[in-house]
Amino acid sequence: STSTLAYDPSDRVQTVAHRGASGYAPENTMAAFHKGVEMKSDYIEIDVQETKDGELVVIHDVTLDRTTNGTGYVKDHTLEEIRQLDAGSYFGEKFIGEKVPTFEEVLDEFRGKTGILIELKATYYYPEIEEKVAAAIKERNMHLPAHDKIIIQSFEFGSMQQIDKLLPRVPVGVLTSNPTDLSEAKLDEFATYAEFVNPSRTLVNSSIVDEVHERHMGIMAWTVRNKQEVKPLLDAGVDGIITDYPDYTPKHKSK
Ligand code: G3P
Ligand code: CA
Repeated sequence: STSTLAYDPSDRVQTVAHRGASGYAPENTMAAFHKGVEMKSDYIEIDVQETKDGELVVIHDVTLDRTTNGTGYVKDHTLEEIRQLDAGSYFGEKFIGEKVPTFEEVLDEFRGKTGILIELKATYYYPEIEEKVAAAIKERNMHLPAHDKIIIQSFEFGSMQQIDKLLPRVPVGVLTSNPTDLSEAKLDEFATYAEFVNPSRTLVNSSIVDEVHERHMGIMAWTVRNKQEVKPLLDAGVDGIITDYPDYTPKHKSK
């Protein structure tokens, strides 16, 4: 990639609100994203998938069952059907009426207010999702450096190689929970197209952080759900902490 952004060279560790501030509001809803901003997150993290009629929506699971009052696969429902569902009541009565957001709605609402860490989920189900995501970003002129703070990440490495070609100035991240993806050979390969390697926090230690930094990439760890999980990540020197509880992270790296 020709992107110049690798990891934040300043002393600041980035706080990323995982699926929004999902410890406090229903994940991947506007309520959770607003809460993330309110809690001074540097980024909100969103999961992007595609409806039966080819629209981009923000939801984590490939099925509707866990987080909405619908059932079955996202890919088997139209946007109109999905927009009728309730995505808040699973979390609490207070959130009844929250909808599954569209990708474009989230971009329009939050660009300029916070960074957006965009995860492309289950891309094997959605053959053109990379082009659709790139088009939505380009339509808004968000693909140029210094315009908007966005990163695109996925567990699907082929999709990220595609995104790197479609949006060469936008930083790309690879996600993994697999220790074999952190070998020197794999990191060398990621460095040919990615700006971030974002592993499960259970794989993170200072030597992994150094290996990633040596290759001019950044590293963000997920998912912090307990306060005691924060310090080891700060000590290891990560660039970002992806958490359901954005208030658990300090605003600056500890030395
Ligand atoms: O941002 C990383 C993290 O979200 C990856 O796992 O399952 O929560 O999407 P998951
Ligand atoms: Ca995610």
